[in-house]
Amino acid sequence: MPEKFEIRPLNEDDHTWVSHLLEEQWGSVTQVTRGRAYRADELPGFAAIQDDKPAGLITYNIDGGQCEITSLNSLVEGMGIGTGLINAVRNVANSSRCKRLWLITTNDNTPALRFYQKRGFLLVAVYPNALEESRKLKPEIPLTGIDGIPLRDEIELELLL
Ligand SMILES: CC(C)(COP(=O)(O)OP(=O)(O)OC[C@H]1O[C@@H](n2cnc3c(N)ncnc32)[C@H](O)[C@@H]1OP(=O)(O)O)[C@@H](O)C(=O)NCCC(=O)NCCS
Repeated sequence: MPEKFEIRPLNEDDHTWVSHLLEEQWGSVTQVTRGRAYRADELPGFAAIQDDKPAGLITYNIDGGQCEITSLNSLVEGMGIGTGLINAVRNVANSSRCKRLWLITTNDNTPALRFYQKRGFLLVAVYPNALEESRKLKPEIPLTGIDGIPLRDEIELELLL
């Protein structure tokens, strides 16, 4: 498989595959972080494209001088797509003069905790049992996550810009 990919901003023509990808990967286009629900398919983002096909997606939300990564998925892991997508959002956040880039992941997602920390993000907060509240807004959030770990807490990571 050729390892080249392109990263470009999302546009309106991407909406169908973006919605499908979010539903497939996260159970719904709705993402809940810190008790707030977002339609991630309506947020700005970047696509990674390989061989004319989507190979990754990142969405983000800029609010109050901060940039939140609201979803990140690489469909072809280990060749730089995740890193490239984060860097694309980091550039936008920098040019929008955001003070920080941040995100919420869940306690079961040890691969994501590893990935983000290796890219300079710091663990800045744990919100114990936050998923109980999130499930009120998004009932499809499962009780068990990666490696059979109970899906319970939100973990906040940040990169100061
Ligand atoms: C976490 C995630 C986004 C990482 O995406 P990815 O495309 O595999 O990320 P990268 O390829 O940039 O980096 C992964 C590894 O591949 C290596 N890599 C990067 N470019 C490479 C290349 N050209 N050739 C070989 N390896 C490479 C990196 O060194 C990295 O290893 P490291 O973390 O030890 O440094 C992906 O695993 C994913 O989608 N997970 C499921 C969804 C999820 O959990 N999202 C985040 C929750 S908010």
